[in-house]
Amino acid sequence: MKTLILYGSLTGNTQYVAEQISEFLTQSGIEHEIMNANSFSVKDVLNYDLLLLGSSTWDDGILQYDFDAFFQEVQDFDFTDKKIAVFGCGDSSYEHFCGAVDTIEKFWQEKGAIKLINSLKIDGFPQQEPNLELLQKWLADLQTNLK
Ligand SMILES: Cc1cc2nc3c(=O)[nH]c(=O)nc-3n(C[C@H](O)[C@H](O)[C@H](O)COP(=O)(O)O)c2cc1C
Repeated sequence: MKTLILYGSLTGNTQYVAEQISEFLTQSGIEHEIMNANSFSVKDVLNYDLLLLGSSTWDDGILQYDFDAFFQEVQDFDFTDKKIAVFGCGDSSYEHFCGAVDTIEKFWQEKGAIKLINSLKIDGFPQQEPNLELLQKWLADLQTNLK
């Protein structure tokens, strides 16, 4: 299964999570690529079977700038039977906590993708203990669903 981690991150939090996911996949022997949305060739997205999509949320629930640019370009793409798992960082003091994660999840599912596991929403800094635990659980869940 060709696997891509694609993320958009402004201050590095979602990038950190993406890198942790990448490390986990490497340790699990799962071949994959990891790309920042700001340097990804959009049409290549259809070459992958499993998409691990990550974006932080900004200004009233919108997608991170680079991920949003990618998102706008794939509006007419067909993701039927592609598998997805979604992650992102946010701050629960905002009204739309991790709104970008919800937007991504909804869009890809409407385009025929299969959501493998519940999305990962990290509140605050991903390096903090409770969030790392959340991430570990999510990764374990992902691994189970990849079998
Ligand atoms: C101006 C501003 C607006 C934000 N808006 C939201 C929001 O609507 N929802 C949310 O969950 N987080 C919001 N955040 C929090 C960021 O998503 C959070 O800091 C996140 O960790 C940034 O991740 P990144 O470094 O990967 O971009 C906002 C932060 C700032 C500074």
